[in-house]
Amino acid sequence: RQKERETLVEAHGYATKLYHYVLRNTAAGKPAMDYLRSRGFSDKLIEEFGIGYAPSRWDTLTQALQRNGFELPEMERGGLLSRRQEGEGYVDRFRDRIMFPIHGGDGRVIAFAGRLMSAGQPKYLNSPETPLFAKSRTLYRLPEARGAIRKTRQVVLFEGYVDVIKAWSAGVTNGVATMGTALTAEHAALLRRFADEAILCYDGDDAGQAAAAKSLPLLENAGFRVRVGLLPPGMDPDEYIGAHGPESFLREVIEGAVSAVKFQLIYLRKSHILLEEDGKIRYLRDAVQLIARRDSPTEREMLLKELSLEFEVSLDTLKQEAADVRRREK
Ligand code: CTP
Ligand code: MN
Ligand code: MN
Ligand code: MN
Ligand code: MN
Repeated sequence: RQKERETLVEAHGYATKLYHYVLRNTAAGKPAMDYLRSRGFSDKLIEEFGIGYAPSRWDTLTQALQRNGFELPEMERGGLLSRRQEGEGYVDRFRDRIMFPIHGGDGRVIAFAGRLMSAGQPKYLNSPETPLFAKSRTLYRLPEARGAIRKTRQVVLFEGYVDVIKAWSAGVTNGVATMGTALTAEHAALLRRFADEAILCYDGDDAGQAAAAKSLPLLENAGFRVRVGLLPPGMDPDEYIGAHGPESFLREVIEGAVSAVKFQLIYLRKSHILLEEDGKIRYLRDAVQLIARRDSPTEREMLLKELSLEFEVSLDTLKQEAADVRRREK
């Protein structure tokens, strides 16, 4: 088992070099380089993140692994190859994709995410679960970002690989992302060893905001202080940085990240029609419930005051209602 893991790590290292070489030094890699350039990837980013290109032929990596003495069934178990659909033998799992290497705890490559350059499904193909790679325990860039996370006691969570990369180039060196899966309690516990504060910086679309609303309690339950970086509805961090630049991203989105409860109130607002009387009442009831769950009396009072001013309900009434919620939920 240990020996198989060692062999698979070696094979991943070999594949990383091959994909990177194809991208940087071959004619087959030229369209991939053009694609990366068009998305604002500098040479520095391509090198730092070890990005490569898996050519469209069926057996580039298969042949190369075989020539180097790797056993193909083992390489299939490691997620680098696939079984042929018809007949015997193996083919490359990743073809015609931009390759993002994913590093394990000890800094060596254990998996890949491969992105298509044109529309098609799936947009990202990730390595399957293998003896080396468990999605529930892996966060993209955690090994590289760990130092910065420890130093600042803060971690920034993104949805996408490219978001992590572009944020890094904007100066956010403590950013990580899940592997195309939802954040789990296991991820949160892992990160909690290095940080006290988590900033959720998910896409500005409905899916991203819903994912942030789900991740938030997981992080709080792990003991994090949570803030949320807000993006305009149609934008993800990569697009925001492209449109508004790195300084604006650092200032407005990261430094300007709102508190957990502020985000929850903003999110709650979207599901209530505040123009109607009963919509307003339901919103107030749900909002008071969120506020009542905060530990800090000062925070509760400040937020209730804001509600009281906006909806012209007396602070006493809101405080009474919050106290009721706290008693009920004890
Ligand atoms: N994802 C995935 N498989 C897919 C689509 C998405 O694993 N078929 C994961 C990837 O980790 C991706 C993240 O979900 O980075 C967010 O998805 P999306 O916002 O659609 O992609 P972007 O990260 O914005 O990718 P890009 O900018 O390259 O389009
Ligand atoms: Mn290089
Ligand atoms: Mn998205
Ligand atoms: Mn996105
Ligand atoms: Mn994107």
